[in-house]
Amino acid sequence: MNPLFFRKTIIAATGLFLCVFLIVHLSANCILLLPEDIARDLYNSYSTTLRESPLIKIIAYVLYVSIILHAFYALLITLRNRKAKPQKYVVNHSNENSTWTSQNMGLIGTLILLFIIVHLANFWARIKLGMGEDVRLDHMGNKDVYEVTYSLFQNIYFVIFYTLISIPLALHLHHGLKSAFKTLGFYHKKGLKILAKISLIYAIIMGVGFGIIPFIVYFK
Ligand code: HEM
Repeated sequence: MNPLFFRKTIIAATGLFLCVFLIVHLSANCILLLPEDIARDLYNSYSTTLRESPLIKIIAYVLYVSIILHAFYALLITLRNRKAKPQKYVVNHSNENSTWTSQNMGLIGTLILLFIIVHLANFWARIKLGMGEDVRLDHMGNKDVYEVTYSLFQNIYFVIFYTLISIPLALHLHHGLKSAFKTLGFYHKKGLKILAKISLIYAIIMGVGFGIIPFIVYFK
């Protein structure tokens, strides 16, 4: 198999998997928008169920490997493209915005990767690895993940950081999803138009959803 095609296929397949993860992750984080007495129990029970389920544990490892492979091969392609100019990512240059995004996928992807590292340090390292300050237990004996989230978003700098990052996230998802469908062999013109619309709607929902939740929690 052509090495470039192999790398793009890995990026596309892991990217689609990460897109599905984000739908589940955003849906779960919408619990934070409910009144506190319901939200705390629901969020903490959900988080405990995820951590303790053997199946979800396997899916979590697939998730970590996907993030690493996606970032690694994307970086490799970006560096090769920079050397070999002007060959670029597979994309439909149908409008100005997608051209700017496609030309800056490396930069946008790096910003998102940096965000993920900070985000994992904020939550995952504390909750799953027990690093840093101890996470309190709630009245049901579950780790109080709601409290961890709530207290992080009492800090306006984190709120602004999470909200700002949702812009490159939305741009990356919009372009990435469209490109993934093409890389995986969807060439039908009408079908691609529909998929481009789905990609746009998906990116807007993810961007607005992840961008607005920290603000709502801050003002709760
Ligand atoms: C409103 C914004 C967000 C909130 C409140 C939030 C909250 C959380 C929490 C609480 C966890 C730890 C879950 C647990 O172990 O019980 C987590 C994990 C994670 N988050 Fe987020 N998240 C947000 C946005 C994002 C975004 C935008 C991404 C990706 C671009 C992301 C990627 C991840 C990943 C990869 C994990 C590790 C999952 C695992 O270990 O199973 N999150 N998030």
